[in-house]
Amino acid sequence: MANKHDIFERHSWVLLIGILVMVAIGGLVEIVPLFYLKSTIEKVEGMRPYSPLELAGRNIYVREGCYNCHSQMIRPMRDEIERYGHYSLAAESMYDHPFQWASKRTGPDLARVGGKYSDDWQRDHLINPRAVVPTSIMPGYPFLAKNELDTNAIKAVVSTNRLVGVPYTDEQVEKAVADLKAQANPDDPGAAEVLKRYPKAVVRDFDGNAGKLTEMDALVAYLQVLGTLVDFKVYDDKANLR
Ligand code: HEC
Repeated sequence: MANKHDIFERHSWVLLIGILVMVAIGGLVEIVPLFYLKSTIEKVEGMRPYSPLELAGRNIYVREGCYNCHSQMIRPMRDEIERYGHYSLAAESMYDHPFQWASKRTGPDLARVGGKYSDDWQRDHLINPRAVVPTSIMPGYPFLAKNELDTNAIKAVVSTNRLVGVPYTDEQVEKAVADLKAQANPDDPGAAEVLKRYPKAVVRDFDGNAGKLTEMDALVAYLQVLGTLVDFKVYDDKANLR
C-alpha cells in the first residue's frame, strides 16, 4: 500500500487528478440531496403561487433592492415571534425564485406585513416614509406611483417561474395579463376569476388611482399578500403546537 502511494507523490498531475476525484465525491455528497429537496419541504395548506400582479410587485421589490434593508424570515425565537408573528415556514418561500430571506435588517422583517397596514398607508409610506413615520431612514420611492406597470413581460415571467418548478397551470400562464389587470380593478369582470385561480388574493385598486395601473399597484399587492396565505390556527392545531 505504501509503495502504491508513491505514484501520487512523484507525479504532480496524478496527485491533481486524485484531488479532483476526491473533491468531486465531496461535492456530490452535498449536491445530490438537493435533488430530493421536494421531500424535505413539508407541504402546508394555503400556499399557492403568486398571482401575476403580486409577482410583478415582487420583481419591483427585487429591482429596488428592498432586500438590502428588509428580511423575510421570522426566526423561531420569542422576541421575533412577539414582534412579527408566527415564525416562517420553509413552505412559505417555496414559490420564491430567488427567495427573499435576506441577511440584514436595517428595517423590520416583512414576512408577515400583509394586512398590517392599509393600502393608503403603504402608498404614503413608499412615496415618502417620513410622512407616516417621522424618524424613518427608509428612502422614498415616489416614482413607483407615476411609473405605469409594464405588463408585456408578465406572461414570460409566469412561465419562467413554471420552468423552475412553480406549478402554474396552462390557464394561469395564458390568463396572466388579464388576471394582472383584473386584480388591480375590482370592477373588472375578470376579478372573480382571479380569486378562483389565486385563493385569498386581494382584489383592489391598490394605488388609489383607478384610471392607471402603476408599479405602486403591483408592489402594494405584493406587500399585502406577504405572510397571509397560511392559516396558522389550522396549522398549529394539526401539528399540536398549542
Ligand atoms: C435603507 C434601508 C431601507 C430600504 C432600501 C428600504 N427600507 Fe423599508 N424600512 C426601512 C426602515 C428603517 C423602516 C422602519 C421605519 C419605517 O417604518 O419607515 C422600514 C419600514 C418599512 C415598512 C413597514 C414595516 C413595518 O412592519 O412597520 C415597509 C412595508 C417597508 N419598509 C417596505 C419597503 C420596500 C417595499 C422597500 C423597497 C421598495 C423598502 N422598504 C426599502 C429601511 C429601508
